[in-house]
Order: sequence, then structure tokens, then C-alpha cells
Amino acid sequence: MKVLLTAEQIQEGVNSLAQRIEQYYQGKPVTLVGVLIGSIVLLADLIRRLNIPLRVGLVQARRYRGRNTQPGPLAIDLEVLTAEVRGRHVLLVDDIFDTGQTLWELIPQLDELAPLSIRTAVLLRKQGRKQVDLEPDFVGFEIPNVFVVGYGLDYDDMYRNLPYVATLDNEDLK
Ligand code: IMP
Ligand code: MG
Repeated sequence: MKVLLTAEQIQEGVNSLAQRIEQYYQGKPVTLVGVLIGSIVLLADLIRRLNIPLRVGLVQARRYRGRNTQPGPLAIDLEVLTAEVRGRHVLLVDDIFDTGQTLWELIPQLDELAPLSIRTAVLLRKQGRKQVDLEPDFVGFEIPNVFVVGYGLDYDDMYRNLPYVATLDNEDLK
């Protein structure tokens, strides 16, 4: 395992994300919608840095299955989204923008709930992987095309609790 972003670097990145998001949503009713499970660490840090009125909701979107680091089919569950969205601005929060497929598939489904707007915020954006016509609106860090864990990101549901972001060596991918 090799550290890519230290806990301190992440905190600075989240501060900067929060500043941009706070400015953007001044005077606008916003609901932050975290994409389970990977976004929970970012969501918890982010909302505590936002000095604006906001609501928080969650959706479940699972792509990776078990020990497979290649994308599988996406399952979206809007049932867990209990926060109000209609007539409010929605900021979708996810851990990482990889191919972009998750957010690309989530946006039209959320749009059916009649929000005023939908924007996206991610901690990480992987370079050279995008497969959809969408750019995340708020990005913490651009990272190279490597598989990373920590700060919410998992491999086989492990490592989400690491306070830093690290790349896995081949012997960790077993
Ligand atoms: P996308 O739909 O390809 O953009 O992938 C987004 C989802 O895939 C993220 O929410 C993560 O759960 C997962 N993912 C993508 N890259 C990584 C990675 O490097 N480590 C862990 N999870 C990843
Ligand atoms: Mg995820």
C-alpha cells in the first residue's frame, strides 16, 4: 500500500471544496445527496464545513462487486433518499469520478423527483477514464488511473476507515 494523499492533504482539499460549494449555494435551498457507501466520510466532513442551511439525503448505488475491481452492473436504490428534493437544489456527493457512469445514471433518476438543479461533487477524479458526457462540478483532487482505497473508498468493503487515500499493490488485490 502506498499513500497517495495524506490525511492533511485531504483536509485541505475538503476545505477548498467546501468553500466553493458554500459560495455557489449562497441563498439557495440545497440538499446534499451522498452516494452510498463510499461518500459517507467525505459527506460527514463536508457538511460540517458548510455554513449554509442544508438538508442531507442518501442514495444507494453499487457498482463494484466483492473482489472485482472491474465495473459490474449498477444497482440504484432511491428508497433510502428520505430528504426533500422537490423544489430544492441537489448536490450529489460521491467519493470518486471514475468512468462517470454512476453519476450519469443517477442524474436522470433524481431529476424525476423535480429538483431545481442537480450538481455533482467528488473528492477524486481519475484521469483518462471518463466514458460519459459529464464533468463533475466540484472536484477535490485529480488522480492518475490507479485503484485507490481509504477515506470511504473500499476494496472488497475493506479500507474505508483509512484517514488517507492509498494505492493498493498487486499483493493487496487478492
Ligand atoms: P464510475 O461510475 O465509474 O464513475 O465509478 C464510481 C464508483 O466506482 C465510485 O463511487 C466507487 O465506489 C467506485 N470506484 C471507482 N474507482 C475506484 C477506486 O479506485 N477505488 C475504489 N472504488 C472505486
Ligand atoms: Mg461508490
